[in-house]
Amino acid sequence: MANLDVTLRYSGINFPGHLHSMQSMQFAEGFKFHDTDTLIVTYPKSGTTWMQEILTLIYSDGNQEPAKTIPNWIRTPWIEHYYCEDILLGKADHRIITTHLPYHILSKSLKQSNTKVIYVARNPMDIIVSFYHFHKMANFLPEPGTFGEFLEKFLLGKVHFGSWFEHIKDWLSHREEFNFFFITYEELKKDLTHSVEKLCNFLEHSLLPEVIDTIVRHCNFTNMKNNQMINYTLIPNEIMDHQRGKFMRKGAVGDWKEHFTDEQKQLFEKIFQDKMRDFKFRFIWTL
Ligand code: A3P
Repeated sequence: MANLDVTLRYSGINFPGHLHSMQSMQFAEGFKFHDTDTLIVTYPKSGTTWMQEILTLIYSDGNQEPAKTIPNWIRTPWIEHYYCEDILLGKADHRIITTHLPYHILSKSLKQSNTKVIYVARNPMDIIVSFYHFHKMANFLPEPGTFGEFLEKFLLGKVHFGSWFEHIKDWLSHREEFNFFFITYEELKKDLTHSVEKLCNFLEHSLLPEVIDTIVRHCNFTNMKNNQMINYTLIPNEIMDHQRGKFMRKGAVGDWKEHFTDEQKQLFEKIFQDKMRDFKFRFIWTL
């Protein structure tokens, strides 16, 4: 499946037709989750790949073999991608599943189970920068234009995968409906050991301190950048142009400061205050 220029519109949101089809979205929407599943929920560029790697290592008890030999899209598949049906149905228990879907598409089926849901959030200003660079290399996403043009599109919720504001507000305001764990990219950066301990606690999967140390070492940015199973260099240039950027790009907190002008920061803050006004949640990042 190439379909690089095709956009799929589903439930009011644009998705890349390269990875999503009407059937795959319907499959995701009606998916039968198991109580033993763990679902990673993210808006793109929030630390999805990082969490996929951490969970792979937690569930393998620190054995690095699966992470070094199986691509992340096979071991932690996106429920909405067209190639996932067979992978998911072929595995009965302890599946690690990934999704970028908004609450309104997935909630009905997800509520039927006690699946463990892990929501990873990131400072939206860093997401915008990361997403902008990703658009340049991912040939299945529209050309982003200038950074300023991309920023405006993002703030209007007109980018692929929909509005960041709606995604986070909808998932977090309904978190009581699920077996739910919230963590941020910034917490992972600040203290990965403590983050892994908290995750193990939530997953009821206890590990020895030395195993946690192995996981923390394995999941650092440099090691992950060099792991072909997650750095997307296995994907041909036609689909991801590795000359135009790296998937594992910078891995930093606050990179937005290198990209936003003062006017762009003011525009962002104005829209952020407006859209998040009624949303009572204390984020740990500073804008
Ligand atoms: P940058 O583009 O800012 O570098 P996602 O997996 O949700 O698409 O997110 C990708 C972002 O997470 C990229 O951000 C990538 O570099 C960053 N990332 C992935 N693994 C990381 C790690 N181990 N440490 C820090 N950042 C990581």
